[in-house]
Amino acid sequence: MNQEYAKLIIGDKTIELPVLNGTEGGKAVDISRLYEEHGLTTFDSSLANTAFCKSTITYIDGDEGILRYHGIPIEQFDRPKPNFVEVAYLLIFGKLPTTNELADFRTRLTDNELLHEGIRRQFNDLPPKSPPMAILSAMLSQLACYHEKFLPLGDDELFVEAVARLVSKARTIAAYSYRRSQGLPFTYPDPNMRYCANFLHMMFSIPHLQYTVSEAVEDALNLVLILHADHEQNCSTATVRVVGSARANLFASCAAGVSALWGPLHGGANVEVMRMLEGIHVGGMTPEDCLEAAKDKANPFRLYGFGHRVYKNYDPRAKILRAACDRVFAALKTPDPLLDIARKLEEIALADPYFIDRKLYPNVDFYSGILLRAMGIPTNMFTVVFALGRLPGWISQWKEQHDDAGQRIIRPRQLYTGNNLTHYVPIEDRE
Ligand code: SDX
Repeated sequence: MNQEYAKLIIGDKTIELPVLNGTEGGKAVDISRLYEEHGLTTFDSSLANTAFCKSTITYIDGDEGILRYHGIPIEQFDRPKPNFVEVAYLLIFGKLPTTNELADFRTRLTDNELLHEGIRRQFNDLPPKSPPMAILSAMLSQLACYHEKFLPLGDDELFVEAVARLVSKARTIAAYSYRRSQGLPFTYPDPNMRYCANFLHMMFSIPHLQYTVSEAVEDALNLVLILHADHEQNCSTATVRVVGSARANLFASCAAGVSALWGPLHGGANVEVMRMLEGIHVGGMTPEDCLEAAKDKANPFRLYGFGHRVYKNYDPRAKILRAACDRVFAALKTPDPLLDIARKLEEIALADPYFIDRKLYPNVDFYSGILLRAMGIPTNMFTVVFALGRLPGWISQWKEQHDDAGQRIIRPRQLYTGNNLTHYVPIEDRE
């Protein structure tokens, strides 16, 4: 196919820039040599118009509301039953596992579910109200202290072992952060349990009273984790790529991803959605008040769980989660008034010109918290569950970048708008 070019005319210069083509019709103007050859940079402060990598992992069509992992639509991952470990394997290794590959991956996760007692003992010294996201980020980084053998890059077997430790121990750390906050004794993982059931066991079993995992809840948690598993170059994934581009190890890179995800504009939104819905439920405000506050430019409040940088249509994950709420509440026979409030909020927002004009629709965070709450997971753990789901995505993107021979350290330029040349003034001469 003939190479297509874009022309950049600046002053009396015309610069020809190659056009790159993506699989699903995406096009990108390649400016990789613009500064080197013409001393020019482009300006795109939130990188909203900039592809900073090529990737084969996840495809999103924001206008059509499409999300696919390695080409498979996310709507197909709950057949016959949602299986997060299988999807984690797909994302990390680039293919759906055979029966033996899945069994081997499961065994590696089980073999690595315990924490080193040195890490576990540290939980005792944490303040009880420690934010679980702070604990998760700190403890993931600490894995480098106890599993230093898996820090070197470039060895595939070491990588697989590092992945098993990260994916399995993150779940144990998450459950322990909850137990610490409740003043409850730690419940050790049960090697006979599947990934999600084991997490629920570590969260809710108490001595002499094993938590009974219902199939509906286990399936719902698998589904929630699958829907959060990857989402191309979102804020936290881009963070993992930036940190990984310096050849930082996998544990450190994912710990950085946790910190980025914590932000209320990103993964922390699921906590804000719950606060918003509970505020309406207790009577502090009406759904209409919420919308007015969200539309008021003088008010920093946003309609959390609404809007998206890429989706200008209904987030496909929100659609699936919305339907899953009905299924889980029917199975558990525990209706939640917050679901009705969420539905009402969605209904009036989608009819409001402010939201229509800006193409603001429910995103993944709008219904996820209601589902997690139905499972008994407290609000301050919502973003931690998001992180457990996103971990395979971070790992896959980190590895894809690491394996790209053309990848360099990510170091953006800037447009300097500060002082021209000035000079140091001795303190006695300053007024
Ligand atoms: C996630 O990127 C990903 O893929 C993220 C994620 C993933 O899986 O990794 O999908 C997960 O982070 C989902 C998003 C969770 N965050 C929220 O729900 C917080 C509320 N949403 C917004 O803050 C906002 O929509 C963002 C942060 C999600 C997107 O912000 P953008 O792309 O920078 O959009 P913007 O702020 O430029 O908004 C455009 C306009 C603005 O109004 P005008 O200046 O045109 O008048 O829409 C308004 C915004 O004020 N707007 C909102 C709004 N979202 C956008 N107004 C009120 N409430 C909102 N929620």
